[in-house]
Amino acid sequence: MKVLILPDAQAAVARAADIIADIVTKKPDAVLGLATGGTMLPLYDVLAQRHRDSGLSFAQTASFNLDEYIGLAPEHPCSYHYYMEDVFFRRVDIDPSRTHLPKGNTDDPHAASEAYEALIEEAGGIDLQLLGIGQNGHIGFNEPTASLGSRTRVKTLTDSTRRANQTYFASFDETPRYAITTGVATILDSRKCLLLATGAAKAEAVAKMIEGPLSAACPASALQLHARATIVLDRDAANALALMDYYETVHPEGQPSAFD
Ligand code: F6R
Repeated sequence: MKVLILPDAQAAVARAADIIADIVTKKPDAVLGLATGGTMLPLYDVLAQRHRDSGLSFAQTASFNLDEYIGLAPEHPCSYHYYMEDVFFRRVDIDPSRTHLPKGNTDDPHAASEAYEALIEEAGGIDLQLLGIGQNGHIGFNEPTASLGSRTRVKTLTDSTRRANQTYFASFDETPRYAITTGVATILDSRKCLLLATGAAKAEAVAKMIEGPLSAACPASALQLHARATIVLDRDAANALALMDYYETVHPEGQPSAFD
């Protein structure tokens, strides 16, 4: 794992944006795996800004989001379809026909999950998978105890995840219980992974992911198996890492090492 620790959230977001911009510039038809959530909002802002100000183009890229709530139509303001359209897709030049999210408003979420996994494969797999992390160590909506061999499927959300996401809904009861999420194995199949975490609330989960045992109890720890996983953190999110000095020696201020 490459662990990059930046002085603050703004610098961490800028570093993550650099990594995405680098892939898209070197491989304009890259397949991006995208994430939602609060952590990603400033990142999509920076990418949209770079599109506007520096011509960073997504015209040939394809995208596959990690997850979508079951039961929400794409037009629902709390759906991830809506989020992606609002915070990213409409602000850049990505071709809407090449953007994909799991279909949450369906009578057969199992079939929709299988179809989504097949679509990722048909697209040639994901070049760069962007990830956030839940306070309980989830990636996508792979909650603790999710199989490390899992593929896209229906998952029941934990109450702690529902509470964390409740802010977007009118009440806890209205916060969806189920989602379609790509699996841990789907994520591990990506050619590169980039996980961004900011803020003290993520410090414990980040430490378990990087330095804890490989365990379904912390699905993000599966990234220890990935040969090209980069973790971008601000100081607050890095705070519980035992080997912080080492990471900072290898990548001072989160910059590339001499051998990168
Ligand atoms: C969202 C996703 C989730 C979030 C995680 C962190 O597509 O896959 O794993 O990345 O729940 O969410 P925030 O950033 O809101 O703390």
